[in-house]
Amino acid sequence: MKGLLPTLLFLCVASQLATAFMDGLLPNGNFEQGPKPSQMKGTQVLGRSAIPRWETSGFVEYIQWGHKQGDMLLVVPEGSYAVRLGNDASIKQKVKLAAGMRYSLTFSAARTCAQEERLNVSASPESGVLPMQTMYSSNGWDSYCWAWLAKSDEVEIVIHNPGVSEDPACGPLIDSIAIRQLFPPRRTNTNLLKNGDFEEGPYIIPNTTCGVLIPPQIEDDHSPLPGWMVESLKAVRYLDAEHFSVPRGRRAVELLAGKESAIAQVVRTVPGRRYVLSFAVGDAGNACEGSLLVEAFAGEHTVKVAYDSKGKGGSKRAALPFTATKARTRIVFWSSNYVTRSDDLSSLCGPVIDDVALVSVRHANRV
Ligand SMILES: *[C@@H]1O[C@H](CO)[C@@H](O)[C@H](O)[C@H]1NC(C)=O
Ligand SMILES: *[C@@H]1O[C@H](CO)[C@@H](O)[C@H](O)[C@H]1NC(C)=O
Repeated sequence: MKGLLPTLLFLCVASQLATAFMDGLLPNGNFEQGPKPSQMKGTQVLGRSAIPRWETSGFVEYIQWGHKQGDMLLVVPEGSYAVRLGNDASIKQKVKLAAGMRYSLTFSAARTCAQEERLNVSASPESGVLPMQTMYSSNGWDSYCWAWLAKSDEVEIVIHNPGVSEDPACGPLIDSIAIRQLFPPRRTNTNLLKNGDFEEGPYIIPNTTCGVLIPPQIEDDHSPLPGWMVESLKAVRYLDAEHFSVPRGRRAVELLAGKESAIAQVVRTVPGRRYVLSFAVGDAGNACEGSLLVEAFAGEHTVKVAYDSKGKGGSKRAALPFTATKARTRIVFWSSNYVTRSDDLSSLCGPVIDDVALVSVRHANRV
């Protein structure tokens, strides 16, 4: 009996670890398993548990690739099916996670009507409202992310459309819901910035080709891009090397909407000490052609870096040497102007930044 207790405890711990969710799509997170024909009326889903693994409420539709809505052909980014959340509709699923850890949720969404749409995403008891900002991709779909700190081992993931529109067939399409555990990176002695290479961030669904929009952080301080804040009005796009040209490593950030799309990080500095902020500026190889211009700030110091983009990928390095005047210095990057893709003038794009480092130069640097 004596030996049994530790064994049982071990088994419990081991089984808890084994059941905690691993990074990737949630079970049936791409809705490829659908309701039985008897659980549908047209595209409308009948009953709360008709879609395997999900619980739905309100007016939820199950949409197949190629479904016609008026003149519009609905496409689905991943597999063949997606759901549509009508007025006040929601989908939810319970997921086992590790309490005390940070997670980010990624999902794809497309607006189908012209009006402003917002989604309330929650992982009980945390929640956040994400504006669906289009103008980023040509097929109408974009991926969005949101991050939170898990307060318990089991959370309920809910995506809710709080909107009320006159046409019940308005409301966003949702697909590809995934989770990734975040590991907040630390400063190192070679870089005073956290996550300067952007390698740590939200899950990017392998088969989607639009990266992930990181929305402006209006109300929560748990950034899906650890270390960084999106402090402007519009999202920045998180890019993967599988689908975009990335200056270094697997991930980078694209500044999408001029000065309305900025990322920032506040770092401790010693007034009077000299520092150098260095970074890569490039283009994502996504037909974003023209004279791109990135402005970098370190407190009141600033540099403008021009990059002539052919839209085919590439990058160059730039640096901003400065002497700190405060105990905290705000590092900010934005694009000076709006750019659209040469193959799709309705899709915003912009310069890519990557590999950002801040180092202290103790002895006056004569370069
Ligand atoms: C979002 O949903 C959560 C949980 O369902 C709720 O507590 C919160 O009040 C909602 N927020 C808004 C702005 O509707
Ligand atoms: C991505 O697409 C490939 C080929 O179409 C498919 O085999 C694979 O299962 C897809 N991946 C996911 C995560 O759905």
